[in-house]
Amino acid sequence: MGHMEEKRRLMVEALEERPPEALLSEPLDYIFADHFRQRMLCNLLDAMVSEGARDALLSGQILMFMRLDFGLHVLDEEEDLFPLLLKRALPEDGMEDVIHELCAEHSSDRLDADELCRVLEVPESCGGRWKRLFTRFAANERRHLIVENAIVLPMARIRLQPGDLTLIGQRMAERRGIVPARHWQ
Ligand SMILES: [Fe+2]
Ligand SMILES: [Fe+2]
Repeated sequence: MGHMEEKRRLMVEALEERPPEALLSEPLDYIFADHFRQRMLCNLLDAMVSEGARDALLSGQILMFMRLDFGLHVLDEEEDLFPLLLKRALPEDGMEDVIHELCAEHSSDRLDADELCRVLEVPESCGGRWKRLFTRFAANERRHLIVENAIVLPMARIRLQPGDLTLIGQRMAERRGIVPARHWQ
């Protein structure tokens, strides 16, 4: 297997494999791990654009990730992480503006995400516009991930209390149909 193929295999593997369930006891680490998977998604989309062709198997793998994991992650942030962080952050942390902006990006990116899924499912549905769509989605997503990793998660590590983290982890587990193990709590 060549170097590029090996690299791609690892990226697809990261996309397909959810973080271990036990990591839900450290929900900020789980979210960080999901961000890594999203970076792999961006790399794979860019790779398809530069190859100029859409691999059917890879399209299916990306579609599964978008359908099963991407939406859950946005809910983890919007329903659990962001509201609790807003509650705990101090005014001088400036979290209100940052989180407001991230939520606005979630809703504008959702339109592109829906379009992306349509195009992955029915390749001919988008004509030649798919390259621009894939590139735009990946670029927006990367910027979004930088803000979340560099600003939001570090602030959450400072401000959230142990009980907050337990609650976020429990809710993320419920969202995924996982029964939290007793030793997480
Ligand atoms: Fe995120
Ligand atoms: Fe986000």
